[in-house]
Amino acid sequence: MTENIHPIFDQLVSRGEKEEFLNQRSKLIWFTGLSGSGKSTVAKGLEKELFKRGFYVQVLDGDNIRMGISNNLGFSLEDRIENIRRISEVAKLFVEAGVVTICSFVSPTQSIRKIAQDIIGDHDHIGVFIDTPIEICEKRDVKGLYKKARAGEIKNFTGIDAPFERPANPNLIVKTENQSIEESVQQVLDFVLPLITKK
Ligand code: ADX
Repeated sequence: MTENIHPIFDQLVSRGEKEEFLNQRSKLIWFTGLSGSGKSTVAKGLEKELFKRGFYVQVLDGDNIRMGISNNLGFSLEDRIENIRRISEVAKLFVEAGVVTICSFVSPTQSIRKIAQDIIGDHDHIGVFIDTPIEICEKRDVKGLYKKARAGEIKNFTGIDAPFERPANPNLIVKTENQSIEESVQQVLDFVLPLITKK
């Protein structure tokens, strides 16, 4: 399929030069967790805090992406895999451009998350599990989706009639039920700052 394709990666301004220009080391910070767990909230807070400190950052978020490059995909396992594959390729472009990239996707299974990790590469990937129990996500039900899923109006809803597998060894676990949003953001900030700061 790629026999007539001639990439020009080696002729472009390098990632290292771009990182130098931006005075940062680019990484992908990947948030996984149930719908309503707080992924987007923590991702937004993190972006703001990093930006304030002079980092050049970009958030890719489930609901936004599904309005655009994944707007032809649903929530079957096959579609979720394709969704995550596309996002990971896009995220890789950002990381190669020197950008600190934050992805916030349910990414519900080990194999789905492995697709992302394999595309990005272990060295650039920071996995953050937003570990909020389903009872709390369902109680919050910010988008009213759990109610619809319980009523059978949404099928394949993660945590209800579609699986969520806990990540086996995330780099960081954030338990949002025991702390404020600010504390959750601070926890991620403390973890990532040393990894993205130029020595
Ligand atoms: S993923 O499984 O492919 O990683 P993604 O993060 O893009 O999911 O999208 C999840 C968002 O879509 C949820 O936050 C929720 O708002 C919405 N959504 C709609 N239907 C579903 C569903 N069946 N399962 C999970 N999330 C859904």
